Amino acid sequence: MVKGTYYFPEGFLWGTATAAHQVEGRSLNDTWHAWEEEEGRILNGEKAGLACDWWGGRWREDFDRAQATGQNAHRLSIAWSRIQPAPDVWDEDALDRYREMLMGLRDRKMTPMVTLHHFTDPIWVAELGGWENEAVVDLYAKFVHKSVRALMPYCNLWVTINEPNVFMVSGYLDGAFPPGKNDLNTALLVMQNLIRAHGKAYDAIHDLQPQARVGVAINYRGFKPASGWPFDGLAAKALHTLFNDLFPRTTKDGVFNTIIKKERIPEVAGKLDFLGLNYYSTDLVRFAPFARQDMYTQRFYPEDAPQSETGFIAHVPEGFEECVRWGAQYGLPMIITENGVEDSQDDLRTRYLVEHLHALWMAMNNNLPVEGYFHWSLVDNFEWERGWSQRFGLWGLDLETQARIRRPSVDLYAEICRLNGISSAVVEKYAPEALGRLFPDSLAGSD
Ligand code: BGC
Repeated sequence: MVKGTYYFPEGFLWGTATAAHQVEGRSLNDTWHAWEEEEGRILNGEKAGLACDWWGGRWREDFDRAQATGQNAHRLSIAWSRIQPAPDVWDEDALDRYREMLMGLRDRKMTPMVTLHHFTDPIWVAELGGWENEAVVDLYAKFVHKSVRALMPYCNLWVTINEPNVFMVSGYLDGAFPPGKNDLNTALLVMQNLIRAHGKAYDAIHDLQPQARVGVAINYRGFKPASGWPFDGLAAKALHTLFNDLFPRTTKDGVFNTIIKKERIPEVAGKLDFLGLNYYSTDLVRFAPFARQDMYTQRFYPEDAPQSETGFIAHVPEGFEECVRWGAQYGLPMIITENGVEDSQDDLRTRYLVEHLHALWMAMNNNLPVEGYFHWSLVDNFEWERGWSQRFGLWGLDLETQARIRRPSVDLYAEICRLNGISSAVVEKYAPEALGRLFPDSLAGSD
């Protein structure tokens, strides 16, 4: 066997990512709580409930775990619905609580990254029409201003909006997220408002904190034509353009350009300091002339790719390298803001982890500037419309007792974080099935 180590650059951020509604529990004033109350919205009628009880203070023990296992960063989100429960009410206690969490990270020598919007909104914002109403742009900027002013002594790395592309598709095209709509025009209007809101938030943050670094987290999905038929190629390209490209391209050029709608939004041009990338999987795409609901496409996973426990994710690490290569075209530093797999038994996760990190290393070795990697997630948490059926945590969660269950991936990830690299010894110990791919004999060369 070839021995060696793929090292990452000095100062690389190694962490995990979480989001408020998924871990905090008892978040009663947001759109997702209301959604969970509606029948048929969440698989098996499950609810976030107490989640990982971070609002009750269990973030402390989870941060301890992260720190003790070599992580030097954490990405969390703050909930607008807690900080501004009504249009003219600001909850200083909620801000204090977030301040405490960020101080908790600082005390543990972990770099915080704060996401200012991760899928949920206050009920009162939804009642005003939510992201379909342009008024949301200023409302959101006001919330950002208030929050960043309170939290800036502890953080300078901000993600304005998590996955605007998923928020648009799931809320306004496939209807899995509130408000459960299916209308392309509305979806595009929402995307424009998200882009405008990002621009205003960018300015608000930089006014307060000139040294801030402000980005967005895009969910990059690989879309590959299922065959050589030109229509499959066009279908894959159309999905890529709408899903992956639209937000970062508009933010770069100031032009919102889609087949059915084109508009200049010059005030957002150049307003990204880094690009956050969330990568999970890659689809094969076929043109499907009758599938209007699915944008005239049919998507499925490559046959030879191992799938996650519930079939939600296919293991396609080469798509991760493509993701980073795609991201590089925007000329910005990149941070991997999410990557992971649902796997309660930890059968696939160790392999998924090392092969994805190797794919990332390959991209970075071509001089692509990536500053950190945040694994999704630290501990099992509430998976939106899929409820508790999917387990993405390095640590498992026993919902009844709140006990954390240490999965083997915890130790694998700890060794990677501490070494700042992936060694053949670590791969052999935790994911021997990946050795052939990461350390093939051919690397030894011949003499
Ligand atoms: C979201 C997370 C989610 C993860 C796994 C991402 O799209 O940002 O909130 O838990 O995927 O499903």
